[in-house]
Amino acid sequence: MAIYLDHAATTQLRPEALEAMLPYLGGAFGNPSSAHSFGRAARNALDEAHERLATALGGTAREIVVTSGGTEANNLAIKGAAWAGKARGHRLVASAVEHHAVGHTMRHLEKFGFEVVEVPVDRNGRVDPDELDAALDDRTTLVSVMLANNEVGTVQPIREIADRLRARRGILFHVDAVQAAPTLDLDVGELGADLVTISAHKFEGPKGVGALWVRRGTQLLAQVHGGSQERHRRAGTENVAGAVGMAVAYECACADRPTTAIRLRALRSRLAAACLAVEGVELTGHPTLRLPGLLSLLVRSADGVAISVALDLDGIAASTGSACSTGSPEPSHVLTAMGYTDAEALGALRLSLGRATTDAEVSEACLVVPRVIAAIRDGSVAQAADPLGVRLGA
Ligand SMILES: Cc1ncc(COP(=O)(O)O)c(C=O)c1O
Repeated sequence: MAIYLDHAATTQLRPEALEAMLPYLGGAFGNPSSAHSFGRAARNALDEAHERLATALGGTAREIVVTSGGTEANNLAIKGAAWAGKARGHRLVASAVEHHAVGHTMRHLEKFGFEVVEVPVDRNGRVDPDELDAALDDRTTLVSVMLANNEVGTVQPIREIADRLRARRGILFHVDAVQAAPTLDLDVGELGADLVTISAHKFEGPKGVGALWVRRGTQLLAQVHGGSQERHRRAGTENVAGAVGMAVAYECACADRPTTAIRLRALRSRLAAACLAVEGVELTGHPTLRLPGLLSLLVRSADGVAISVALDLDGIAASTGSACSTGSPEPSHVLTAMGYTDAEALGALRLSLGRATTDAEVSEACLVVPRVIAAIRDGSVAQAADPLGVRLGA
């Protein structure tokens, strides 16, 4: 049985979520907008999902917009806030290590006259709040900084940034918490943001469903038009089963978090020690302020894709840090923003553990991963192209 060490890409649906979803994939198939009994049953389930998710996040049901995932929630946050604030200003600010669902969305807005400013990060992938301050002016309407990075796991000083933004007034703060949600404590009130994105498939919920938490009173223009669903903020017949599964999975994740985080941190340390013992391997991202289960490595003079392919053949599913699915190697924008050269960045390897990862799996990985890395580095295993298409950007 293969060992899955790619939980940052996606996770397996947990049984509690599947069980909660099944009725809405079966007999309880009503449209929540219908007034009859089928519709009312679906509406009740959807309302309850909003309520439960909001409570677990520290918000209220009215503040939750259920979307088709993290990508759509980020698009809604950025485009919705940018257009709503256009009369006041057109400067948008984001860190240089955001997921493409944020970075590319902002770049798209440049075509419509918005000015996008990228705030640099240090060698560990952290934003300096002073540098972020320096990027703001009185035409700035939105700042977006992720809570934890998907490639290197670095956690950002969100509370400090939020406090500084609040002092300036009028600038909305969006936080992409997609990678943080499974293992870091998340209370939207304490975070101090106005908009927070999560995605269900990262915390053992279903794929294709996520949510944007929108602080009460935040001006946001809908990006999908049609019906009045999601309080006019996202038109379209709702994914009832998805919303139900997401709420249950998130409640379970919150309950498990304290023990999961401690366990994952210990497992990751063990795996890190084994991998870092190989010559030419170094840790990327912050040494301590990082996601508990994410081990991001840079293997010098080696191709991360070749390592992933060799690991896959040896029964370990991992990913590179590079964002490319077309076959042409493209260094990770996260690592290059952290100061690594393009050539160095191509040696990225990401091993991400999850709640389902067992001690025995990590023990096995502690033997296999160092052996494969060493073999690739000394040339005894060919550095193939990407026959399995494992270069991932999730
Ligand atoms: C930090 C981050 N933001 C956003 C997304 C996009 O989420 P989704 O896959 O639900 O569209 C991902 C997914 O990999 C992510 O890691």
